[in-house]
Amino acid sequence: MSTETTFPHGVLSPETVVVAAGRPAAGQDAAVNPPIVLTSTYRGTGPADPADRVYGRYSNPTWDPFEEALARLESAQEPALVFSSGLAAIAAALSLVPAGGVLVMPRHSYAGSLALAAEQAEAGRFTLRTVDIADTPAAVAALEGADLLWIESPTNPMLEVAEIRVLADAAHAAGALVVADNTFATPLVTRPLELGADVVVHSVTKYLSGHSDVVLGAAVTSDEALRARLAAHRTLHGAVAGPFEVWLALRGLRTLALRMQRSQENAGELARRLAAHPAVAAVRYPGLPEDPGHDRAAAQMDGFGAIVCIEVAAGAAAAEKVTEAVSLWVPATSLGGVESLIERRRRQPGEPKTVPENLLRLSVGIEHVEDLWADLEQALAR
Ligand SMILES: Cc1ncc(COP(=O)(O)O)c(C=O)c1O
Repeated sequence: MSTETTFPHGVLSPETVVVAAGRPAAGQDAAVNPPIVLTSTYRGTGPADPADRVYGRYSNPTWDPFEEALARLESAQEPALVFSSGLAAIAAALSLVPAGGVLVMPRHSYAGSLALAAEQAEAGRFTLRTVDIADTPAAVAALEGADLLWIESPTNPMLEVAEIRVLADAAHAAGALVVADNTFATPLVTRPLELGADVVVHSVTKYLSGHSDVVLGAAVTSDEALRARLAAHRTLHGAVAGPFEVWLALRGLRTLALRMQRSQENAGELARRLAAHPAVAAVRYPGLPEDPGHDRAAAQMDGFGAIVCIEVAAGAAAAEKVTEAVSLWVPATSLGGVESLIERRRRQPGEPKTVPENLLRLSVGIEHVEDLWADLEQALAR
C-alpha cells in the first residue's frame, strides 16, 4: 500500500500532520484509512531483495503509515520504526553502545530504561555512568570517553529538563551518539532530532496512542545506517508490533494535538492550584515560573507537558491514601491517556531511591479541569 508523502501546500503544521499523514493514496473509492493487514508471510520467488517484505517479522504494511506519520512529526528524514513496546525500542537503542563502551544516562530516567542499562552493565557489556541530566556541566564532564548519551526530558518522574542542544553538541564533540526518550514531551512539544539528537525513542503506549489500550514503542532517526541497525535489532530480537495495535496507535495519533492542548491546559491550571494547597509540600511542573526547569523548558519546548508531580506534606502513607481516596482520577501506573492517572511512584520496587517516597505522579488527562480539581481537593482534604 502506498501512502501520501507530499502535500501541494508545502510544510504543514504538526496539528495537521497528525490528521493527514499516513493516509492511503487518493483515488476514486480509495479508503480514507489504511487497512489492517493480517499476514505472517508474503508471496515471493527468487533471491529476496532487501526491499521485499518477505516475512511478518521483517515488515508489515500496517506499520508503514504510522512510521511515516511519526517521522514527519519528529522531523526525521527516514521512516520511524515501530516496536512491540517502548522498552523494546529502548533495547534496540542501547544496542548502539559498543561492547566495552560507555553509556551516560540520567539518574532519573524511566525506571525500566535504567534497569535494562544496569542489567547490561552488570553483565559486563558496557560501563554505565548515571548523571543529573539537568546539571549540564556535570553531564558534559561525564561524557569523556562516552559512546552514547541518553537523554530523557522531562525525566520520569522528577520532571528535570535537560539542555538538549548543548548536551548533544558536547556528546558529538566527545564522539558519542545521542538518544532521546521523547515520551513525556511528544514531538508536538519537543523535537530532539532538531536539537541534535541522533535517535528518538518513544513509549507509543503513552500520548501517541493516547487511550491506554495498547503497548507499543518506536525509534526515529534521520541516519540511514543507524536506522538499518535498529531495524536489524527489531528483526533479530523479534520485538515486532501487532498490526492491530499499530492501527490503533495511528487512530489515536489523529487526536494527539487536541489531547495535548487540553491536557497541558489542565496540567498548568492544576499545578498552579496545587502549589497553593496546604497539604502539598512541593509541586514539580516545568510550566510553573518557580520550577528549576522553567526557563530551559520555555526556550526549548512548545508547551510544558501534562505530567505534574507533587510531594504530599504529611508523608508517604498520606500520599498513598490520596490515591485510595480519589474517585475520578484512576489510581494506576502509566501515563498519557485521555483519562487522568495518579500513582505514588515509590510503590514500584524498581523506582530510584532518590525519588521521594511521598511523590505522586499525576498524568493529567482531558476531563473538565474543575472535576479533576474537585476530586483531588477532597482526596487531599482526607
Ligand atoms: C519515559 C518512558 N520511556 C519508556 C517507557 C517504556 O515504555 P513501554 O511501557 O511502552 O515499554 C515508559 C513507560 O512507562 C516511559 O515512561
